[in-house]
Amino acid sequence: MSHLRPDIVERARELVSLYPEPRSALIPLCHLAQEQDGWLRPEAMEEIAALVGITAAEVRGTATFYDMLHTEPVGTYLVSICTNIACLLGGAEELLAHAEARLGVHAGGTTPDGRFTLEDAECLADCDRTPCVTVNHRYVGGLSIEELDALLDDLAAGRRSDEIPPHGTLVRVRRNGGLRVPLAQLAAERAAMAEAQADRARAAKDEEAAQAGAAGGSQGSEGRGTA
Ligand code: FES
Repeated sequence: MSHLRPDIVERARELVSLYPEPRSALIPLCHLAQEQDGWLRPEAMEEIAALVGITAAEVRGTATFYDMLHTEPVGTYLVSICTNIACLLGGAEELLAHAEARLGVHAGGTTPDGRFTLEDAECLADCDRTPCVTVNHRYVGGLSIEELDALLDDLAAGRRSDEIPPHGTLVRVRRNGGLRVPLAQLAAERAAMAEAQADRARAAKDEEAAQAGAAGGSQGSEGRGTA
């Protein structure tokens, strides 16, 4: 039985059809699975692997490389506070300590209600607005302690859910045009690509055999010459 919901699987198949190589859809599919579960459950990774024709270990290997993909459960809102140098000078340590006290978890922890995960982040590339905070990978600006409190209140009350969707699912995983091509055309292009690859492999093999033959011939003639 499928772990991913039928509508997610349908969208996943549509996404796969957008790419010449199914495995190119791997990351968008991971985001889709996160939209369903909030993180990449092992059973979701197995299904993604089957959809794009790779192994579950390869899915996991890719997912663990990217901060935006979670291989362990995270809260509905991932609050990341940058403590890198510019933000450190801007009061990030104090802000993080306040967030820990307010949420009752250390950095890396998730509140018991599963609503918030707090993260001590490396540079978030918004160094002119310190201390930089993101929620579900969306910039919410350089925040004072009071502004962070107001933000957490808003999130807890669901007042920012339009702007900051749960688990940070990216709107761009829904595509309704642009790259879409007819499936028959895609199949024809994939078949032509496979044929071209087979031709290249055959040509390389023939060349290898010809070189081996030439080398054998010259060794033979050398051998005769020295006899
Ligand atoms: S140092 Fe904090 S965003 Fe760059």
